[in-house]
Amino acid sequence: FDIYAFQERLIEWYQHNKRDLPWRYDQDPYKVWVSEIMLQQTKVDTVIPYFQRFMLKYPTVYDLANADEQDVLKTWEGLGYYSRARNLQNAVREVVASYGGEVPDDPKSLGSLKGVGPYTKGAILSIAFDQPQPAVDGNVMRVLSRVLKIEDDIAQPKVKKQFERYAETLISHDDPSSFNQGIMELGALVCTPKEPMCMLCPVQELCRAFQEGMEQDLPIKSKA
Ligand code: ADE
Repeated sequence: FDIYAFQERLIEWYQHNKRDLPWRYDQDPYKVWVSEIMLQQTKVDTVIPYFQRFMLKYPTVYDLANADEQDVLKTWEGLGYYSRARNLQNAVREVVASYGGEVPDDPKSLGSLKGVGPYTKGAILSIAFDQPQPAVDGNVMRVLSRVLKIEDDIAQPKVKKQFERYAETLISHDDPSSFNQGIMELGALVCTPKEPMCMLCPVQELCRAFQEGMEQDLPIKSKA
């Protein structure tokens, strides 16, 4: 498998095809963080207006740390999964109390914050801090399972860890941010769950599932 061809085609495609999304305007780790938390269980189109309102109301970690919890939950209303908002405020208060208001850029500190799991940690480190860290969610597992023809059950935690190791091997060290966001974008726009648009795919020639006509059969997922 030609890792460099994969990186190059993916990044080139991302730079020309990325959606204009409000959390992509700068690399502020706080904004990346908020966006990734909101995007975890909620679709991009729904998140956009919530993200914009949230940033007007709480433009910095200090604004969110000092805000009234009920006020934050009210701003979150409609997004659901309210523990995300509570954990985020708790974690942001920790950033103010223990890290001088700077979102930590080391994996250990970042990963110790409430609500920051392996995916969110990798997304913040790569997108905000340009570190070559994997950020594997369902979209990324779908893309990689097809490109590499991985037939393991993605519902299993140990399989997710395996995908994180693949992603670590594949990630570009020149532009980890575009690489990770490129896979996310490819999964959202082209390598979709049903009827993927392989004809538009920048890595079609490298894709084992496409070569074998089995893109619709991957990934394999046991439980719903
Ligand atoms: N889904 C998860 N993270 C995302 C991001 N940064 N941009 C678009 N969709 C996403």
